[in-house]
Amino acid sequence: MKTGADNLTILQGLDLQIKHAESLAIVGASGSGKSTLLGIMAGLDQPTSGEVWLNDQPLHQLDEDQRAAVRADGVGFVFQNFQLLPALTALENVRLPLEMSNRYSLKQCQALAKQWLDKVGLSQRVEHYPTQLSGGEQQRVAIARAFACEPNVLFADEPTGNLDRNTGKQIIDLLFELNQQNKTSLILVTHDEHLAQRCQRSIQIHDGTIFKDEQRIDGEQQDLADEK
Ligand SMILES: Nc1ncnc2c1ncn2[C@@H]1O[C@H](COP(=O)(O)OP(=O)(O)O)[C@@H](O)[C@H]1O
Ligand SMILES: [Mg+2]
Repeated sequence: MKTGADNLTILQGLDLQIKHAESLAIVGASGSGKSTLLGIMAGLDQPTSGEVWLNDQPLHQLDEDQRAAVRADGVGFVFQNFQLLPALTALENVRLPLEMSNRYSLKQCQALAKQWLDKVGLSQRVEHYPTQLSGGEQQRVAIARAFACEPNVLFADEPTGNLDRNTGKQIIDLLFELNQQNKTSLILVTHDEHLAQRCQRSIQIHDGTIFKDEQRIDGEQQDLADEK
């Protein structure tokens, strides 16, 4: 991807395929292009050249509205800074994308949003606004919101970056649990090596490309990379 007036090259020669229900960690130094890669894979950003396929859709051939439709249909996001809508309660935050999907009646949206808040342990917080919730609770709302529309793929960009270690671990446990229960692919940007080890696969970004690609088989770390 190139950006800005002087065409800064951020990613180059990068080829990556992610299997259904796979959990993949993307690691790399700050500024190495992890968030850029995530944005491109999720159809939020467009690469200068190359192809991006998401849920069998060629994102590189679609316009912004069509990409938004692909995202709405099969993609969930969780960000480092939660990105909840401050004027909406926890319940309303989870309900909104359900309503926007036009898949359910208002009554169903309400019931589903409640169910998801219950699943993430927030049944006592449905009427709270984001400012009335702790960081960990806000991230739980964001996770409920992301999973409620039953995405095939969940993108998480340093989801524990703003949380203390203990709360972060609970959030990650929850992400993996829902990833397995819902057979959602989980693509997790993190600079926490320990967390990356919990994913089935981990790639390291360096100099705009994949420097290392490691697959875990039966709990064993097997290095598939021809390390450069
Ligand atoms: N919108 C943008 N405009 C210009 N440069 C950007 C933009 N977004 C990111 N960059 C640059 O791209 C590089 C990669 O950024 P990023 O993908 O956020 O890295 P990471 O998530 O690995 O920390 C950095 O050098 C950053 O300064
Ligand atoms: Mg980043």
